[in-house]
Amino acid sequence: MPDHHTRSGTPGTATRDEGATYPALTLRPGAVPAGRPLPKTPPPFGEVFTDHMVSAFWSADEGWHGAVLEPYGPLTVSPSTVALHYGQSVFEGFKAYRRDPDRAALFRPWEHARRMADSARRMAMPPLPPELFVAAARALVRQDMDWVPDGDDEALYLRPVAFATDSHLALRPGLSYRFVLMAFPTANFFGAARRAVTVAVCEDFVRAVPGGTGAAKCGGNYAGAYLAQEEATRRGADQVVWLDAAERRWVEELGGMNLFFVHGTGDRAELVTPPLTGTILPGVTRDTLIRLARDRGLTVREAPVSVEEWRQNCASGRITEVFACGTAARVTPVGRVLAGDGGWTVGDGSPGPVATTLADALSAVHRGTAPDPHHWCHLVTR
Ligand code: COI
Repeated sequence: MPDHHTRSGTPGTATRDEGATYPALTLRPGAVPAGRPLPKTPPPFGEVFTDHMVSAFWSADEGWHGAVLEPYGPLTVSPSTVALHYGQSVFEGFKAYRRDPDRAALFRPWEHARRMADSARRMAMPPLPPELFVAAARALVRQDMDWVPDGDDEALYLRPVAFATDSHLALRPGLSYRFVLMAFPTANFFGAARRAVTVAVCEDFVRAVPGGTGAAKCGGNYAGAYLAQEEATRRGADQVVWLDAAERRWVEELGGMNLFFVHGTGDRAELVTPPLTGTILPGVTRDTLIRLARDRGLTVREAPVSVEEWRQNCASGRITEVFACGTAARVTPVGRVLAGDGGWTVGDGSPGPVATTLADALSAVHRGTAPDPHHWCHLVTR
């Protein structure tokens, strides 16, 4: 990454992809502090943001309109803003990977756009057109290209959020909305080194219920998990394992990540991941790993996994590896599980070969050092 800003990025021009076009975003004149130094290595997750952001607005009369690329900065909101009180807010997370000094690849932006639209519909919000979502990402990455880091495991994380902006406390959906896309450089969600994490099965709380909002990426799902995460941290774990709400038996997901269980080894390894029943976030990395594993001839099954099976199959050696995945966490091996007063180790407690192979395969597609037969990467040129 260069040490100093070169403010050579130009605002987005019309985007053409999947047959869709969206008009250029304009760069609103505004002061970006001169000479703000780029971090030499990515700071902790989500702490230092790039110079710009994209905003767009929704009203009943105009729909989504007024998209603008502007300097990153604070928003002014009324104390009675709907999103603050009733949580009408959805977000996404995806990444741009450095390819060369002038290019970066957005990874599966259309899938993230569609998932954000699905989340919005669940929260009675107007979905942002995917063409606008992708045009916003292109414009921001092009403008802040110098911020895309180039180290192993490093990327520019893009965080779109949309929320109800009108100020009223009647219990009804907002009548005006704002979309904001911001970005920050990031390395590994779990710290500098790739390591196996410890997870704690949560017995007191649930994350999602059938018919609820578990499959939507809405802010409240994450705030509702904080208390359990604090408890897991106190027990010495990195993340919470969420169980189903009805039986408190079936593994659903891990904090903000999906889970994979590996049975067997070598060519005969089989991957099992809990099915998308409506209470689990349909992870884009989950879907990517399913396809990468199948491309390599591995069997992948979407099937329920109980905590008891997890424990017994680790004891018998049938489960050889477990790993979590997500945009932020990429592929993260699970080394130890805490449950009740005890716990157990997965394999020998260190990252296993299937997780490592898939992590490397994913990284190679991100970096463009492996073919991209599924057309997941969307190149942005300065
Ligand atoms: C992601 O993996 O990108 C997430 O959204 C999880 C979390 C950081 C909120």
